[in-house]
Amino acid sequence: MKTLVTGTIRRKKHEPKQKNQHEIIRPVIASDFTGISDCYWKDPEEPWDVYSNPRLLKQLVGPSGFLLAEAGHRIVGFVHYRQFRKRPWFDPSVKSYGQILELHVKHAFHGHGIGTRLMQNAVRSLEGKGVRSIYTHTDETNKRALKLYQRLGFKPLLKTLYLKRKNWSRRQ
Ligand SMILES: CC(C)(COP(=O)(O)OP(=O)(O)OC[C@H]1O[C@@H](n2cnc3c(N)ncnc32)[C@H](O)[C@@H]1OP(=O)(O)O)[C@@H](O)C(=O)NCCC(=O)NCCS
Repeated sequence: MKTLVTGTIRRKKHEPKQKNQHEIIRPVIASDFTGISDCYWKDPEEPWDVYSNPRLLKQLVGPSGFLLAEAGHRIVGFVHYRQFRKRPWFDPSVKSYGQILELHVKHAFHGHGIGTRLMQNAVRSLEGKGVRSIYTHTDETNKRALKLYQRLGFKPLLKTLYLKRKNWSRRQ
């Protein structure tokens, strides 16, 4: 299996001294889907979320455009991306594009550079296919993701809006 990048997970300043773990970033194969779901969040009220359901991942997604990070033989993060041969609705001047559909790193492994390396590899892979415009998305409360994306050259393009309606019938 092709390993794209290996690195050592760096210890953060406040963490106790211990042997650094070696991290591998590699393409996903079908047997990884259970491990991918295990490192994602589980919400019993959203069973349709493909990333939390290995069966849906296998049926609907498949391993293409999927990279994972492994540390000590455990899956600790993944990135899922795709090339689209159509105009993005959110930037119609562009004819075809790549999109980061999901980036996720297990909480205990945040801040070690894993998200950055997953993203760098996904971008490199899309660029290698000739993709010139790559998009990703997050919300403005996700400061960590925003910082990571902006560090890698992504710039804000479009804001989507959450709308709220309060039940005010009692006041009528
Ligand atoms: C957003 C997310 C993917 C970031 O992953 P991560 O692995 O923590 O990101 P990184 O470690 O690469 O970068 C975060 C910080 O670690 C630092 N860092 C980078 N390389 C490092 C290294 N080798 N050693 C130590 N720290 C490092 C970065 O400088 C960065 O710090 P900064 O924010 O102060 O600049 C992760 O928080 C996550 O999975 N969140 C939940 C899902 C999510 O929000 N997904 C994305 C948007 S939908």
